[in-house]
Amino acid sequence: MPEDKKMAPLRLGSIAPNFQAETTIGPIDFHEWAGNDWVILFSHPEDYTPVCTTELAALAKYEPEFTKRHVKLIGLSANSIESHDGWINDIAEIAGCALSFPVIGDKDRQIAYTYDMLDHQDTTNVDARGIAYTIRSVFIIDPKKVIRLIQAYPASTGRSTAELLRVVDSLLATDKHSINTPVNWEPGENVVIPSSVSDEDAKARFPNIQVVKPYLRFVPLAKDKFGSE
Ligand code: BEZ
Repeated sequence: MPEDKKMAPLRLGSIAPNFQAETTIGPIDFHEWAGNDWVILFSHPEDYTPVCTTELAALAKYEPEFTKRHVKLIGLSANSIESHDGWINDIAEIAGCALSFPVIGDKDRQIAYTYDMLDHQDTTNVDARGIAYTIRSVFIIDPKKVIRLIQAYPASTGRSTAELLRVVDSLLATDKHSINTPVNWEPGENVVIPSSVSDEDAKARFPNIQVVKPYLRFVPLAKDKFGSE
């Protein structure tokens, strides 16, 4: 990594660094493009590869669900915009719907360095044309530009689009209702009352508390409606 690129690691709660980028929808200023929406910024290793193709096709299909929740998607790899443009046409054919979110062409991997979308092999991990792979990173960023989730997956394992949507639903519910969501939670299922909330406050806020242990208190939470439905 270049000397001038050494910087504090990005962690949950860090502000997502701004950047300018070439994308499949034209040049963008990241923060300006994000506006007041949530963002899922994700990298893939390489265009025209099987796992990446299935991931982007799934995201193209799920995009309306993210849009309903005011979440914008944006992809990234070290491939060129010309490469992305051709591949996106294949993805649309495979997904059966257009891929309308932007994909960044981070040819010099400046953004990949900033967001640490690299593996331990870094520059030696290159394809046949010498293009360095970025790993399967995901950042969920809230409207205040705070990083709320970081994932790093191996190249051989496709990510779960449903899990990304589940985390977005959890973050929206926890921000809105000051609750937490338990293991494998799905919208409509019981949530838990954070330990920081006293029994007295909990009783005042929630009529139907199920106390399993003094520190494990469940309450029902109706499924939120998103968008106009
Ligand atoms: C894939 O998407 O199939 C892939 C890309 C780079 C390395 C390994 C797998």
